[in-house]
Amino acid sequence: MFTSLGGVGLRSPRLSRSMFWLGLLTIVIGYLLTTEDLYRYANWQSRGFFSGSSAGFNASSAQASSSLPFNYKAVVAYQAKDRSDGVYANIKNNSPTGEDNYFIAMRNSSDLYAGVADGVGGWAEHGYDSSAISREICSCMRDFVFTSCGGKSTPFTPKQLIDWGYTKVKKDEIVKVGGTTAIVAHFAPNGSLSVANLGDSWCGVFRESRLVFQTKFQTVGFNAPYQLAIIPDSMLKEAARRGGSYIQNKPNDADEYNFKLKQNDVVVLATDGVTDNIAVEDMELFLKDHADDANLQDTCQTFVDQVVKLSKDPTFPSVFAQEISKLSGKQYSGGKEDDITVVIVKVE
Ligand SMILES: *[C@@H]1O[C@H](CO)[C@@H](O)[C@H](O)[C@H]1NC(C)=O
Ligand SMILES: *[C@@H]1O[C@H](CO)[C@@H](O)[C@H](O)[C@H]1NC(C)=O
Repeated sequence: MFTSLGGVGLRSPRLSRSMFWLGLLTIVIGYLLTTEDLYRYANWQSRGFFSGSSAGFNASSAQASSSLPFNYKAVVAYQAKDRSDGVYANIKNNSPTGEDNYFIAMRNSSDLYAGVADGVGGWAEHGYDSSAISREICSCMRDFVFTSCGGKSTPFTPKQLIDWGYTKVKKDEIVKVGGTTAIVAHFAPNGSLSVANLGDSWCGVFRESRLVFQTKFQTVGFNAPYQLAIIPDSMLKEAARRGGSYIQNKPNDADEYNFKLKQNDVVVLATDGVTDNIAVEDMELFLKDHADDANLQDTCQTFVDQVVKLSKDPTFPSVFAQEISKLSGKQYSGGKEDDITVVIVKVE
C-alpha cells in the first residue's frame, strides 16, 4: 500500500502532490473543528503523549529494576473521632490518633515498612484504654525494623513483623487487655510490595489513579473484624461461663499478598474509618483530581479532611450506611464517624 502510493507520487507532478497533502490537511482540520472532536483530539493528544512518555518510562523502570533501587516517599495523616463523651473522659494515654495507630519505619529511601492498626473500641466501655494495644504493637514493630532486625541481612516478612510485635506486647505484658486489627506493608528496594493483613484495615495500590491491587477484609461478621487480642484468663473464663467468647486471632491468620510496584504508583494504607465511608471509586476520583499536587503530605491531609467531612454528613450514602441498608432492608444514610488514619506511599 505504502509502496504503491509512493509509486503514484513519483509519477505525479509536484504541485498536485502538495495539493493532495493540503487537501488532506483541510479534511483533517475540518474533521477536528467541532467542540466534541476537539475534545477528542485533545484526549487523543494527551493519550498519545502519555503513551510516548510511558514507553520511555517503561524503559527507565526496566533499567531501574535491574540496577537502581526503587525510592519511596511516605506520609501520614489522621483524625481521631470526637471523644467528648463520658466513656473516654477518665481514660489516660489516648493516642492523638484515637484507637487507630500507625508506624512508618524507613531504613533508607528504598526499604520501608509501614502499617496501621485499629484498636477495638468496645474495651473503653469497660474502663480500658482501647488505644493501648494498637499503639504498643505499632511501636514494637517500628523498633523491630530499626533495632532487632535492622542488623540482620535476612529480610523479614510483614507477617513475621506482626507476629514479633504482638508476641512482644503479650509476653512483656505491656498491655493488660485489648484487641486490634493490623495491616503491614514492606516496600522492598526491588519494587516488590508485600502485605500482611489481619482484620478490616485496607491496602490499595493506584496506578494512573486507577486501583490495580487491594487487600480483602477479614471479618467474622458485620463490623466484627479479625483481631489480635490480649485478654486476661479471668475474663476468658468469665466469658465462657456466660456462654460467650472473644474474637482472638493469631498473627498467622493474616492474609499475605505480593505485588510488583511501578514508578509513580500510589499505595494507600487505611483504617476502616476510610473504607466504611468512601468507596474505591471515590478514592480514584480524589487521586485523579490531585495527581498534579506537588506536596504528598498536603494531598494526604486533604484526603483525610474530606473523609472526615463526609463521615459527619448525615445525608452522605456511606459504604457503611449502604451495608446496613442491605442487611436490614431499610434505607439508611449518613457517614460513619470513626478514627481515620491514612498512610500514603508514593513510588518514585
Ligand atoms: C537499604 O537497605 C536495604 C536493607 O537494609 C539494603 O539492602 C540496601 O542496600 C539499602 N539501600 C541503600 C540505598 O542504602
Ligand atoms: C524482591 O525483594 C523481596 C523482598 O526482599 C524478595 O522477597 C523478592 O524475592 C525479590 N524479588 C525479586 C524478583 O528479586
